Amino acid sequence: MTHGETARASLTIDPAFEVGETNPRLFGSFVEHLGRCVHTGIHEPGHPTAREDGLRQDVLDLVRELGVTLVRYPGGNFVSGYRWEDGVGPVEQRPRRLDPAWRSVETNEFGLNEFMRFVEVAGVEPMMALNLGTRGPQEARELLEYCNHPGGTTWSDLRRSHGHDTPHGIRSWCLGNELDGPWQMGHKTAEEYGRVAAETARVMRMVDPGVQLVACGSSNSAMPTFAAWEHTVLEHTYEHVDHISCHAYYEETDGDVDSFLASAEDMEHFIDSVVATCDHVRAKLRHPKRVEVSFDEWNVWYRRLRDPATEPAWEVAPRLLEDNYTLTDAVVVGSLLITLLRHCDRVTAACLAQLVNVIAPIMTEPGGPAWRQTTFYPFADAARHGHGRVLRVEPRSTRHDTAQYGEVDLLHATAVQQDEDTVAVFAVNRSTDRPLDLVADVRAAGSTRVVEHRVLADPDRHARNTLAEPDRVRPRRLDGAAVESGTLTATLPPLSWNVLHLRR
Ligand code: AHR
Repeated sequence: MTHGETARASLTIDPAFEVGETNPRLFGSFVEHLGRCVHTGIHEPGHPTAREDGLRQDVLDLVRELGVTLVRYPGGNFVSGYRWEDGVGPVEQRPRRLDPAWRSVETNEFGLNEFMRFVEVAGVEPMMALNLGTRGPQEARELLEYCNHPGGTTWSDLRRSHGHDTPHGIRSWCLGNELDGPWQMGHKTAEEYGRVAAETARVMRMVDPGVQLVACGSSNSAMPTFAAWEHTVLEHTYEHVDHISCHAYYEETDGDVDSFLASAEDMEHFIDSVVATCDHVRAKLRHPKRVEVSFDEWNVWYRRLRDPATEPAWEVAPRLLEDNYTLTDAVVVGSLLITLLRHCDRVTAACLAQLVNVIAPIMTEPGGPAWRQTTFYPFADAARHGHGRVLRVEPRSTRHDTAQYGEVDLLHATAVQQDEDTVAVFAVNRSTDRPLDLVADVRAAGSTRVVEHRVLADPDRHARNTLAEPDRVRPRRLDGAAVESGTLTATLPPLSWNVLHLRR
């Protein structure tokens, strides 16, 4: 096949073959006290759109449009040195602290109760991360008592005195963050972490048996301790936890765009390996429960371009990790979403890291506007149309060679049956220069028409949205896709994210 020539792809959409039902928590995101994610991101008292509580209304509107369902908070690396008590009570009495993780100053004017206000107004579920770096089970149970106990004890009454009579009722808790990483405050061996996570989990369940707990898995699949870490941690924690976490960030290196566009191969291998490890421990322990995966940090992040030595030190809300995403990055994000959907039987929570300004789909200027990065669009599409039954579609297509992953399919796709009559097909064309002719057998689904073919593509793969040009890259409707006699045909432009809405 020569460059520019059309490539071919096929798949079958048959509701009889399903992966599973998507958990709404699959479309989560992440707010960390890092850079401008909180301060001048979601919270900016004095901004022209700020509400009385200091939350930016323009950002809230975009968060709702993005379709986020769950938000992890308050970190990240930040949480491993955090004292949650610093962020509650009268704002003027809260301490300013150094945050060693990001070499910043934290004012603490936004904390737990402000976050709970944010989740309420944004209509999302909170996922709270605990400090198991510099702290342990005692502080975790006190925080849980503050949040979830109705009253009549010091910690629960403290919450009530802070104006929250009704308990927050937070269900989802992460037992620390990336404690396998030597960069993490309180970094631990798998044995050390496994023990403290198990003990923290036990104590937390004594306080509130209804909590759902996430043990820390590996910070990425290239960690030298990968898989052994999960194995040891799960041997200690299996009976106490519901999830194990995965984190992964991808970037284009040395102009190797084909490998970058195939990043989902790594994510797929990561999930399969963690699931296999969970099931191995389950078999060994003869345990009836299946531990699920919380992919609670994932995204494109140009980490190699970062030079911490040149970044601002000990400032409040500095500009950190403000990656400006291209069309190519958005297609990779779409492909990673497809991977999460294709594994929805075991991945039951996931968080795009992060939500605003910091490697984020939403950008803001202090005192100025908020806008959508390119990566906003695939996430919003998946969050809007990805709830339902994920079907096993077994795509086949022209393949090409990549330096990192060998031969891969040009088509990466999945389909979600939203209701009896509606199917959404999510598809990525990984070729940078060839359109992809897709033929799908939709007879079993009974689809008779294409309601819309929505596409994100651009002749310039480096095109981005910026403050000066916030709408440079936007999705558009594409004509030409059709269903005839049970066969869907559509052409996917080179390097594109596609959503095909099919109806009976
Ligand atoms: O999301 C940015 C950082 O990436 C988080 O703080 C950390 O958990 C991960 O390494």
